[in-house]
Amino acid sequence: MSFNVNLVRKEFPVLDQKINKNDLVYFDNAATTQKPKSVINRINDYYSFENSNIHRGAHYLSQKATEAYEAARVKTQKFLNAKHSHEIVFTRGTTDAINLVASSFSKKYLKKNDEVIISSMEHHSNIVPWQIACEDTGAKLMVVPMNNNGELIIEEYQKIISEKTKIVAITHVSNSLGTINPVKEIIRIAHKNDIPVLIDGAQSAPHLKIDVQDIDCDFFCMSAHKMYGPMGTGVLYGKEEWLEKIPPYQGGGEMIKEVSFDKTTYNELPYKFEAGTPNVAGVLGFEAAINFIDQTGIENIANHENMLLDYAIKELKNFSNIKFIGLAKDRASLVSFVFDNIHPYDVGTILDKLGIALRTGHHCAQPVMDFFNIPGTVRASFSVYNTIDEIDVFINALHKTREMLA
Ligand code: ALA
Repeated sequence: MSFNVNLVRKEFPVLDQKINKNDLVYFDNAATTQKPKSVINRINDYYSFENSNIHRGAHYLSQKATEAYEAARVKTQKFLNAKHSHEIVFTRGTTDAINLVASSFSKKYLKKNDEVIISSMEHHSNIVPWQIACEDTGAKLMVVPMNNNGELIIEEYQKIISEKTKIVAITHVSNSLGTINPVKEIIRIAHKNDIPVLIDGAQSAPHLKIDVQDIDCDFFCMSAHKMYGPMGTGVLYGKEEWLEKIPPYQGGGEMIKEVSFDKTTYNELPYKFEAGTPNVAGVLGFEAAINFIDQTGIENIANHENMLLDYAIKELKNFSNIKFIGLAKDRASLVSFVFDNIHPYDVGTILDKLGIALRTGHHCAQPVMDFFNIPGTVRASFSVYNTIDEIDVFINALHKTREMLA
């Protein structure tokens, strides 16, 4: 499949605009990616011609919407290489998916003095739900440390894991450091001890080929909006055996088989976890986003982003007084850094005036900032539609920023 970034850019209408009289340079892709026309049109078409509630009506539109929604589930199954389509639960996003597992798993499997293992580079979304679960049950949160390059110390993980460990929840790619964690190895070690593993795939699914059977995770969570799809839609993949074993998360319509005032029985998978009217338009938009990724080719996307990342790092290394936060050998698609004596927020504010959108701050990973003893970083995160020219604009803008603030 040949790859032409200029053709790709034409698919993203939002990129064609000026911000403060400068061409927009959008380097905030780890926060959310832009949406191609195919995704925007799919959502528009659904509301224009197909809108109807699913799994409920006998009428034509309801059946059509139900079929489309279930076809999107099969598409997502194939994208992740899950064994069964009923292992795909649609959620509001990664945060919602992690909360689902933390809440449901802990009700049945966590008790006082049990342990939950997370890592030192987690997003708050993969810390706080587990803290709540631990508070509710008296279990303890254990944290795998990292080294100064922002790499997990696997020997320490091996020491922490024990018969008290009930679940391991680890990010695949760090949103603040870019580190790609060796999840297959982490899962192998946990499984040797019969411990299930949840992978936060919010930052990996947009950039890496994901095969849940190959990595053998028990749960995998991702967000459509970081993968060219709409906000408010995400996925929980769970192995059938685990989704069968853990109780429902929320009660309501669709997740039930029979309801009486005495007793309610629950629906089969995946509906047991999909209470209430789902975000049908979001799921169909997500299907269009998966089609975009498939048609562009995940290898082409990864190669292009890696090329941009290497170039950006090479150029950034020319700045004096720059400190990179996250120097892992294995990295994906983003670079985080600080300048001595310049607050990241000030850098972000001036870059914004020059038309460059990126994120500054703690990136919802405050423990990572504490580890490096910094208030935050400047983070440039790249996507399939970014170009070398844009990185040159960014580097020039950084020179100007430094002149103004130094
Ligand atoms: N988690 C998103 C980020 O890293 C919002 O920016």
